[in-house]
Amino acid sequence: MTILETYERTHARSAAMHRTALSVFPDGVTHDTRRFTPFPLYVERAQGPRKWDVDGNELIDYVTGHGALLLGHGRAEVVEAVQRQAALGTHLGASHEHEIAWGRWVQQLIPSAERVRFTSSGTESVQMAVRLARAFTGRELLLKFEDHFHGWSDTVSLMHPGDDGPPAVSGVTSGALESQLVLPVNNVAVLERTIAEHRGEIAAAIIEPTGAHMGGVPVEVDFLFELRRLTEQEGIVLIFDEVVTGFRVSPGGAQAYYGLTPDMTTLAKILAGGLPGGAVTGRADILSEMNFTDGAGNPRARRVSHPGTFNANPLSAVAGAAALAIVATGEPHQAANRAALRLARGMNDVIRRHEIAGCVYGQGSILHILLGHETSPPEDGITWNWTGADRSHVPHTGPALTAAFRRAMINEGVDPMGTRLIVGAAHDDEEVEYTIAAFDRSLGHLQEERLL
Ligand SMILES: Cc1ncc(COP(=O)(O)O)c(C=O)c1O
Repeated sequence: MTILETYERTHARSAAMHRTALSVFPDGVTHDTRRFTPFPLYVERAQGPRKWDVDGNELIDYVTGHGALLLGHGRAEVVEAVQRQAALGTHLGASHEHEIAWGRWVQQLIPSAERVRFTSSGTESVQMAVRLARAFTGRELLLKFEDHFHGWSDTVSLMHPGDDGPPAVSGVTSGALESQLVLPVNNVAVLERTIAEHRGEIAAAIIEPTGAHMGGVPVEVDFLFELRRLTEQEGIVLIFDEVVTGFRVSPGGAQAYYGLTPDMTTLAKILAGGLPGGAVTGRADILSEMNFTDGAGNPRARRVSHPGTFNANPLSAVAGAAALAIVATGEPHQAANRAALRLARGMNDVIRRHEIAGCVYGQGSILHILLGHETSPPEDGITWNWTGADRSHVPHTGPALTAAFRRAMINEGVDPMGTRLIVGAAHDDEEVEYTIAAFDRSLGHLQEERLL
């Protein structure tokens, strides 16, 4: 039986649900990346590092809430906090103590967080960060980097220079597109030239600090420091988008790990302990663009408004505070990093044994699986060892192979997020060993079908 036939045969109820969903949702799905051929998985429940689909298949989960579940599914402290609060009120129509506790954790952990404002998602946080930067500087342009993902708002919709009509930006105004400058990462000369050409026009620069696609195209540390130096010199607000890296790379995110403080930071995912929630944080003088009055208590002539029905809702607040209290111990990210390192080493050994082109690499607890491209294996088992001259563009596994790989892994009881494994503190030795063996069998099946 082929990989596809096995997938179809063992997921009949998912297939049936997808047929119904096609008449409810565009493409039958509720998130772009959940679209999957021939049909996506429908999952019923999850616990720790595992989940169970509607056909009764058990899977080790490496989607982990798109990176929100560093602590794994159903962590007791978070569940208890949410259950307690649900009975007391899910929206109090007022300020509440839990939002203060949650905000305090952000201030305590994230070095740049002089002030905090909660939103309902990472997308909203990014949109607000850029708007605040524009209000603060009186400038319009936003500098961003190729393929760096910052949510789906118009503000950050351009992924490549010159894109003006690919599907991803359909419906975005030309004004929104023209206000974005998209540069290759890791190229200081282009960065310097662009900043000089647009002197006095750039409000903000935004970056995923470990690189595009959750670190799939790693940002070189020297480049990050140069970006900090140049933005500071030119009065450009530097925004670290730590929606993925916040509380994961270290309890204080990538900025604490690198010792590099941006002016503003956007957060979501781990922030809210597995519930919806985001935050924009940073310099008090920039966030004060939201204030109704100036420092002397006079009404401000202009301000950035920020309503939002579910901002800092009590359920997300208690879940977030419970999760961040655990994050603050430093244990979760270390446990996740250890599991990821063991996985990367084991999987790179498997690749070597199968004598196929590719490698597994990553930083901390997010791994990327590159198949079908010659590359030097990571010397330490995990760190990207790209020797190509172009530091801005690196190969990645093509879409057809990615889909076949994911199907093969699901058949073996492991759910990767495409070619990514988002590892968490709940992945233990047992899951690591199982995953390496599943990877071994999956590569075997892909080779049998001459897909590798
Ligand atoms: C780096 C980054 N920024 C922003 C977002 C958008 O966050 P959300 O999906 O909560 O809107 C994401 C989502 O994956 C992300 O990875």
